[in-house]
Amino acid sequence: MDIRFDFNNMMDTSIGEFGFSERQIDEMESTCSKAVEAVQKRRGTGWLGWMELPYQPAEELSRMKEIASRFQECKDFVVLGIGGSALGTIALKSALLHPWHDLIPEKSRKTPRLHVLDNVDPYWLGTFTDVLDPSSTCVNVISKSGSTAETMSQFLWMRKWLKENLGDSYAEHIVVTTDPVKGALRAMAEEEGFAAFTIPEGVGGRFSVLSPVGLFPASVMGIDVGELLSGAAAADEAAREENPWSNQALMMALLAFLSFNNGRNIWVMMPYVQGLKDVADWFRQLWAESLGKAVNRHGAEVHVGQTPVKALGTTDQHSQVQLYIEGPQDKVIHFIGVEDYGLELEIPSEKTGQDSLDYLGGHTFNELIKAEREATALALAEAGRPNCTHILPSVTPFTLGELLFTFEMATAYSGELYDIDAFDQPGVEAGKVATYALLGRPGYESRRRDIEKATKNRREKFVIDRK
Ligand code: PA5
Repeated sequence: MDIRFDFNNMMDTSIGEFGFSERQIDEMESTCSKAVEAVQKRRGTGWLGWMELPYQPAEELSRMKEIASRFQECKDFVVLGIGGSALGTIALKSALLHPWHDLIPEKSRKTPRLHVLDNVDPYWLGTFTDVLDPSSTCVNVISKSGSTAETMSQFLWMRKWLKENLGDSYAEHIVVTTDPVKGALRAMAEEEGFAAFTIPEGVGGRFSVLSPVGLFPASVMGIDVGELLSGAAAADEAAREENPWSNQALMMALLAFLSFNNGRNIWVMMPYVQGLKDVADWFRQLWAESLGKAVNRHGAEVHVGQTPVKALGTTDQHSQVQLYIEGPQDKVIHFIGVEDYGLELEIPSEKTGQDSLDYLGGHTFNELIKAEREATALALAEAGRPNCTHILPSVTPFTLGELLFTFEMATAYSGELYDIDAFDQPGVEAGKVATYALLGRPGYESRRRDIEKATKNRREKFVIDRK
């Protein structure tokens, strides 16, 4: 593995009574090896289809590359999707493209501007076409179910806009990523002749970043998807090890599980790399939707799951860290650092005569951000606050693939430790059903009646208007 996981500050040797002892970890070894066995036995089956994504056939990838090269001719590449159909692409964009990619003048930029629309705020959405030229805009609509209200309404709107402006050629500007057979989107793709990709069986939204959901937009943006997959394959190999002491994903799952049992029901992911800020956002969905469950696999009520929080170093040192150090003992802080930022940037050493400034001169921003991360980890440890750190040698498609897959495996192993189904999302589905009912989708009438009944309990007394 190229990435390193340092969990010293989770252990009693570093943080005293609030840390775990080696014995506590040792005692969980057989539980851990059973978790690995259970997950590995099911790899590639049921909802564990995503475990085979690192090994996609070369023909699939070259077809993707071929179609991507056609869409690279667009000036604006627009992804329509939400949740698992959006967050992976956003994370790949932030981590692997030039940080100011979309601001690079068109003549020196090789790939289109990338926009991921994952909301339906009418003002935000409705003004988007003001800045686009339909003749050079391409749309990738992504929905596993092909029926999510937000994505599908966005799609109907953008399809109309393209049709009105381009006539019959509108279909050439659209590419669909959806279920191989089911759903309205698949049917439309076939009827209207859109290019289409398939989200393989057994790949749920939050585990789909390494499927065409994330890989096609990545290919359009010129990201080396082969390297992403090689990194994921390396993480997959490493995650097969049954001993937590030599398996990052398993150790992360175990530390999180033991922490949850100690009342630490918040997991803060805090990269000290601007480009990884959206990895923390992607991780939030992975951790929350997979592990936040009401019942275990035997139907007993458990209500488990840590609330994932995203933070960013150093920005949030000046916003959140006070709470992390002195607030309730209910969190684990998970830092992500990088050894090589890709650029050494010096702080000017010009003397100002101010001692409070002159010490900075001659150092680099690289030293500054590293010192800030280490200082925060140390301050937390001294306050008995558990924290751990993933370090990447540098942010590349390979190391990012490794990191994302390690987190996916940690999530799968956590599911085993909690003894829950980490791959369903009844809460998300409940919200979708309520939306369908409220908007009058056929088949959802009885749910609508229930909602109307429930709203009768609302009291004006519990609403305060400004006089
Ligand atoms: O992880 C999940 O399953 C969800 O977050 C989905 O990705 C999200 O609800 C979008 O669903 P779909 O891709 O079916 O439009």
